[in-house]
Amino acid sequence: MGRPAYACSSCGNLLEVKMDIAESITRLSKVDHRSRPISVWRYRELLPLGRSAEVFSLGEGGTPLFRCSRLARELGLKNLHIKFEGANPTGSFKDRGMTVGISKAKELGMKIVTCASTGNTSASLAAYAGLAGMRCVVLIPEGKVAIGKLAQAMMHGAMVASVKGNFDQAFKVVMDSSERLGLYVLNSVNPFRIEGQKTAAYEICDQLEGKSPEYLYIPVGNGGNSAAYWKGFTEYEALGAVPNRPIIRGIQAEGSAPIARMFSTQSDEIVPVSKPETVATAIRIGNPANWKKTVRAIRESGGRATTVTDREILEAQKMMARFEGIFAEPAGSAALAGMIKDVNNGDLDKASEVVCVSTGHGLKDPDIAISQCVKPATIEASVDALRMFVGG
Ligand SMILES: Cc1ncc(COP(=O)(O)O)c(C=O)c1O
Repeated sequence: MGRPAYACSSCGNLLEVKMDIAESITRLSKVDHRSRPISVWRYRELLPLGRSAEVFSLGEGGTPLFRCSRLARELGLKNLHIKFEGANPTGSFKDRGMTVGISKAKELGMKIVTCASTGNTSASLAAYAGLAGMRCVVLIPEGKVAIGKLAQAMMHGAMVASVKGNFDQAFKVVMDSSERLGLYVLNSVNPFRIEGQKTAAYEICDQLEGKSPEYLYIPVGNGGNSAAYWKGFTEYEALGAVPNRPIIRGIQAEGSAPIARMFSTQSDEIVPVSKPETVATAIRIGNPANWKKTVRAIRESGGRATTVTDREILEAQKMMARFEGIFAEPAGSAALAGMIKDVNNGDLDKASEVVCVSTGHGLKDPDIAISQCVKPATIEASVDALRMFVGG
């Protein structure tokens, strides 16, 4: 077993898995992958795992692509879908990357896995490490992780350390110590994570019956997921599975928006935000590790990164819940918030085919949901009391 590497030793850029398109076409031609159930592993031939490697799966992927007609009518749109990644086994898109990442870690003979996390990565890693019988060490920023996510990491048996600092500081500790301590890092700097996450783009194309949407709105924190989607769309087009790729609009929270700032200032270098803040704790990241990959992806798509306020995020969270029955966490509502902002500013043609990615389930952060709603009334156990309550 060699030493794991996450970045190129000469240029410092993060490693990336490159697909041999001709070979992949040959491999795909031998199977009817679309006859398999929709899931991450429907696309096994397009994932970098040895043929005899064991797959550790909880049934990830295959998440619904909801056609949102009530929301669309409310916003005057023709064609709006939400890809609900909260429907994954641990409630976020991270499971796509973890099923591949953990299977790869086992194939490579790794014993202990680790990550720094705003919550979802630790919840997912802990679950998959448990499934694979591996030890798991997670670092979270003190006091800034939603309670449901913390409960998941603890329940799945991870060793959880709360770091006195923010995500960026916790992540630096992980990267500075992993080699010395023999820990295999499964943050999104790990290229195998990105490989699993790219399958969401394949799925959207299959669910739209052989095409990409015109626009994809997606929240951006560390930037791994947006880069993964672009990789997925690009590969699917190169494989001849779809004729087009979408324009990517990356959405950041106003208080944690170094990538959106790059776009607004047309700069080529990132200026990290030293004290990132937002109610969407999952994207409370000031120094995104994948900024180069995601900026390249968004630019190549002809898109851009913009910001939304916490108020806009929470408003979108409520709209999704009330119009469509989709309960997303705040970060999982940021893409819709960004799209609504674009509609209101006239920056999106209302006839476009749009997919918003909702990245995580609302039950992970019950505190923020409860804080926005009217408290339940306490009434007597009688018909009269109920009549009074409903106003009849
Ligand atoms: C729910 C949710 N949405 C969005 C993101 C941002 O993804 P990325 O860091 O890959 O940009 C995260 C990352 O933790 C997340 O948990």
